Amino acid sequence: MTVTREAVPGVHRRTSSLVLSPAVVAHRGASGHRPEHTLDAYRTAIRMGADDIELDLVSTKDGVLVARHDLELGATTDVARRPDLAHLRRTVVVDGVAQQGWFAQDLTLTELTTLTARERMPATRPASAAYDGAEGVPTLDEVLAMVATESARRGRPVGVMLELKHAAHHDAAGLPLDVPLLRDLARHGLDHPWARVTLMAFEAPVLRRLAARTRLPVVQLLGAGERVSPEDLDRIDDYADGIGAHRSLVLPRDPYGAIGTPSTLVRDAHRRGLTVHVWTVRGENRYLPTNLRRGDAPDALGDMAGEVEALLDAGVDGVITDHPEAALAAVRGGPAVLGR
Ligand code: G3P
Ligand code: CA
Repeated sequence: MTVTREAVPGVHRRTSSLVLSPAVVAHRGASGHRPEHTLDAYRTAIRMGADDIELDLVSTKDGVLVARHDLELGATTDVARRPDLAHLRRTVVVDGVAQQGWFAQDLTLTELTTLTARERMPATRPASAAYDGAEGVPTLDEVLAMVATESARRGRPVGVMLELKHAAHHDAAGLPLDVPLLRDLARHGLDHPWARVTLMAFEAPVLRRLAARTRLPVVQLLGAGERVSPEDLDRIDDYADGIGAHRSLVLPRDPYGAIGTPSTLVRDAHRRGLTVHVWTVRGENRYLPTNLRRGDAPDALGDMAGEVEALLDAGVDGVITDHPEAALAAVRGGPAVLGR
């Protein structure tokens, strides 16, 4: 759990000597238990013992980075219940897809901080939905301050994996994400390679830009169904320190939906000195391989630790999960512990 793993040195290599492997990374916080991307979700994950928290970043109208997965705010906040913000509802084309609703880029920080967060999947996660309305949308600045406080209080450095969402879209809107990102990190003294901060994106151009301007580790995210050739990994190795792969790229399922034979992706990435994180491991039966489901109820919890064990056997360096307590149980080999 606390073994230090350094990436193979390379001319561009920035990977922090403090990278933990295998690491348990709380996806949007402990989002299986609290509305995603709230300070409570992150604190809950840290209390459980997560090594890192993962957060997605989008920009407000006035260029402040906030923790949200979607540009559109209706799915995870109460914006639709706010008559005073009704005039901001519109259609926006995001990466070629038309979306309707309220968009972070149209709200000032002052407006956005009046919203409260809501559970995205209330039918699947009713216990989390009980926290609807309890917290607002945090800024990156607030999250970094909280992480510093929690790290000091617990005597262990909690890492942060930051994902830049829709970077090209933000560029086109005149709200480049990398500018406030580097400013926020510098303000918190986190712009050095041993800061336990990792920068991630699906879009390579913003990662190349960041790789040229910071020594923080950079991770190229890879989606489900992507074909990743050795040449692709060589290209990624030009600017990145690791990959963040959809779990199916490492551990495909067999024709019955059960865990299949691992791919060669981890081996191929490690040969180039690239670390491998996988996302997103979730505890409910509906997300698990068929051989690890418990009972027939899709929203009941299954044997997520079993999936994490299989991913660890495949050699991954980190597991990004909505249920950090179950992943920690697999990594530590003990029973799941729900912290307070
Ligand atoms: O950390 C990678 C993972 O979070 C990417 O997927 O859609 O949950 O941001 P998404
Ligand atoms: Ca993410």
